Amino acid sequence: MCIIPLDTMRILGIETSCDETSAAIVEDGTKILVNVIASSLPIHAKTGGIIPEIAAREQVKAMVPTLEEAFHSSRLTHHNIDAIAVTYGPGLIGSLLIGVETAKTLAYVWNKPLVPVNHLIGHIYSNWLGEQQPSFPNIALIVSGGHTELVLMEGHGKFKWLGGTRDDAAGEAFDKTARLLGLGYPGGPAIQKAAESGDPTKFNLPRPLSDSTDFDFSFSGLKTAVVNLVNKNKPKSHQEVADFSASIQEAIVDSLLIKTLKVAKKFEVSEILLGGGVAANNLLRKKAAEKFSGKITAGDPKLSVDNAAMIASAAYFNFKNVRWDKVKADPGILI
Ligand code: KG4
Ligand code: ZN
Repeated sequence: MCIIPLDTMRILGIETSCDETSAAIVEDGTKILVNVIASSLPIHAKTGGIIPEIAAREQVKAMVPTLEEAFHSSRLTHHNIDAIAVTYGPGLIGSLLIGVETAKTLAYVWNKPLVPVNHLIGHIYSNWLGEQQPSFPNIALIVSGGHTELVLMEGHGKFKWLGGTRDDAAGEAFDKTARLLGLGYPGGPAIQKAAESGDPTKFNLPRPLSDSTDFDFSFSGLKTAVVNLVNKNKPKSHQEVADFSASIQEAIVDSLLIKTLKVAKKFEVSEILLGGGVAANNLLRKKAAEKFSGKITAGDPKLSVDNAAMIASAAYFNFKNVRWDKVKADPGILI
């Protein structure tokens, strides 16, 4: 392992942890030169959720064309790349392996340093992609389809995990309740859209663990409450679906913010970073900004969801290269 100087550096990022296949080239961790994202979402929308085997099969087909597109549209070649960064976990094993093995092959053939990146840390670094960078210390709330984590960030590479969900992730809560309402997959954007014309006070849903002193979340009770309500009260009209959606969205956002604000107060930080697919949610962004006296940084919503630019950025600011043959996919890793 060696640390190389971080002057001007272009990193090729590769991300394949879930259903996306993404390749990006980022300069100095902040400037996106290209960020190509191929998704097999239309296939998963038909089945109402991701079938890992199908996602991986699609990624095998998409990996090389995605890389070709990234180089073609940026008019760069591998000679212009200083290093390769790849997501090694957490995620779906079949999906991770495609990105990891591709990155290892390229690092070997092109003789480039290879930086394995934790996907959750990658989500935090979507907030570095832009003109202004976050300050330290901050609290990062990572909210995705598989994770809901609170992290204290005291500097680059200085991450302290504080708490997370005890059961379902926030994104999962959106996806599962959307399915119950017949809104399709992915549930987050569908619920957000349906909620626009809904009344968030119509259904009384729980905000679990809001009084607990730990930094954990729980969303399975919310899902059960929605199951019971929907069974008792089958939504018959567009308006009823909208009211359910607005009530669900409000409950998830409240649960996330109650804990995040408590943590920000305890650690006396003046900045909160939002990352992960659920960070694209408009209500979460709006309510966070209203309730927190400091700064909320959430970046471009298009970069909240899975993409390779955030992986390249995380690699730049936490540059630790590993010999290509030592890099392994680790689906269960946390932070
Ligand atoms: O980070 P991500 O793209 O993939 C994972 O690492 O899981 O997050 C996907 C999750 C899905 O659960 C999806 O429903 C949710 O992010 N999501 C949203 C929104 N956009 C995506 N949830 C709420 N509101 C949104 N606008
Ligand atoms: Zn993700």
